[in-house]
Amino acid sequence: MSSLPFFHPIQDDLQRAEGLLQESAPDQHPAITGAVELLLGSGGKRLRPALVFLSARLCGADPDVALFAAAGVEMLHTATLVHDDLIDGSLMRRGAETLNARWSPAATVLTGDYLFARAAYLVAQTANVRLVQRFAETLMVICNGEIRQMFDGRGKVPTFQEYEQRIYAKTASLIALAAESGAILAHAAEETIAAMRTYGEQLGLAFQVVDDILDFVADEQTLGKPVGSDLRQGLVTLPVLLFLEQSGDHPALRQILTSGSSDLTVREAVQAVAASPAIDRSLQVARNYIREAKEALRPFPSSEYKTALLDLADFIVRRRF
Ligand code: IPE
Ligand code: IPE
Ligand code: MG
Ligand code: MG
Repeated sequence: MSSLPFFHPIQDDLQRAEGLLQESAPDQHPAITGAVELLLGSGGKRLRPALVFLSARLCGADPDVALFAAAGVEMLHTATLVHDDLIDGSLMRRGAETLNARWSPAATVLTGDYLFARAAYLVAQTANVRLVQRFAETLMVICNGEIRQMFDGRGKVPTFQEYEQRIYAKTASLIALAAESGAILAHAAEETIAAMRTYGEQLGLAFQVVDDILDFVADEQTLGKPVGSDLRQGLVTLPVLLFLEQSGDHPALRQILTSGSSDLTVREAVQAVAASPAIDRSLQVARNYIREAKEALRPFPSSEYKTALLDLADFIVRRRF
């Protein structure tokens, strides 16, 4: 698998995590093994395990223990994607067919559940109770956020605060957990753990803003998943929020929000938003989060791991996939 350049200092760590992720439990059904191979083999940036290792190396945690946290966090991420694609009705992920494209909802849900359990099993092998608790809390935050988005979020224009709360829950909470994991495992000072968490939170907020931008402007091939999917579900993200703030109204958008989406209205609305200044303004919001993320690392002495974390932050706002 190709790897991002700033992952270089932790390349061997990531390789070991890959091995652990691919391991299967005795008696595991071949359908689950096949699903794991498909999900992990088709790509994925491995951003979250990289954060665990960089945080662990920066703070001086035992890399042999961090390995379980890194694999666990990526497994948790993979499980959320399995359920997310089922919920969103998405048929493509990492350039490959999703499980829900081939299987019944029942089989897809159960496979996702299995992966959640494996994620918990992996993290438990760190034998760090605080980390296991943080892990469980994060999953509660993610599920709660998804339920809120499902029941209160569709066809509605959120305030910026509501939007920020939503992207924190669905994405930044897990990225924050990844970033603080290494510091927790290192038994670092509370302010060090808090600094790593702030870095991860701000990075995660920027990450989801950019994901929401890419849903308008990305090339589907490069992205490996469908574009326009948020509006198709009637989900208003930051680019639409800022577009409406400036333009007041748009016929296709209004139709999506009041009476549901069609291929035509989604195409028209995506084009209008993509061609508007709302994209640049959204990117500016992401850049502001990235500035905060980098600021949180200021107290750490220079090292190749700190440099990698700073480079990773810069990558978030220029990524195309
Ligand atoms: C996708 O995450 C889900 C979001 C939180 C937006 P990534 O973009 O990190 O997905 P992979 O792991 O690289 O496929
Ligand atoms: C994903 O958000 C968040 C979780 C997986 C919990 P999105 O729905 O925007 O992710 P993509 O765009 O499908 O990857
Ligand atoms: Mg989705
Ligand atoms: Mg998305």
